[in-house]
Amino acid sequence: MKISIKRFDPLLDPQSSIITYEIPEGLTLLQGLQHLKATTDATLSFDAGCRSGICGSCAVRVNGREELSCSYRPREDDLIEALQYHPLRRDLLVDKRKAVETLRHTSAWLHQSREADISIEDEKRTETQSDCILCHSCYSACPVYAVNPDFLGPFALTRAYRYSADPREGDAKDTIDAIQSNGVWDCTLCGECTAVCPQGIDPKMDITMLRSSSTQYGYSDPNFGAMNFGFDPNGGF
Ligand code: FES
Repeated sequence: MKISIKRFDPLLDPQSSIITYEIPEGLTLLQGLQHLKATTDATLSFDAGCRSGICGSCAVRVNGREELSCSYRPREDDLIEALQYHPLRRDLLVDKRKAVETLRHTSAWLHQSREADISIEDEKRTETQSDCILCHSCYSACPVYAVNPDFLGPFALTRAYRYSADPREGDAKDTIDAIQSNGVWDCTLCGECTAVCPQGIDPKMDITMLRSSSTQYGYSDPNFGAMNFGFDPNGGF
């Protein structure tokens, strides 16, 4: 089976190149990459850890869509690329540090921890969000990064929702305050993040819930101020 890989070494190459390789049938994409590294080109660079869909380190783009390489089964003529919006280190290997920093900026943890009875419904409300494996697929799929590299982004906002909705949080204000700038109102609600999440998390819905919480803390969509809803302030129509 033939697959193509977008290769790039920032130290050696003036620009990236797409190279086609032959891999055996029946492998996962990660096994195919490991096969190529062992048999064809030891410099081929990619990330992986658990090989079981748990650690989140092996995400790449396949034909423009984010996939975990350890669980994806390649098809003929697939094009494999690195995740978008992350600095490229080499080939399929990216630097995730800036993206991980968004977790700190969202202030997504318990601020005023208190004892609380947690019902099964409470648990269910944030159960899926807790399954995030930080694969960065949602970050790579999010079109907002094309225009705003400082956007807090889907996985960080999902975590902000997870903690702000936790019954043990005595006051979610710090978290809600932290997600107003480059945060909940900058999302276009396109749902690309939800579509690519391998864990079935729905960041789009979490962001919608955070918008609702934000209004309870006195915030509103800053874009409303720029809309005139057909009203002419000079008295015309
Ligand atoms: Fe851990 Fe793929 S190697 S999720």
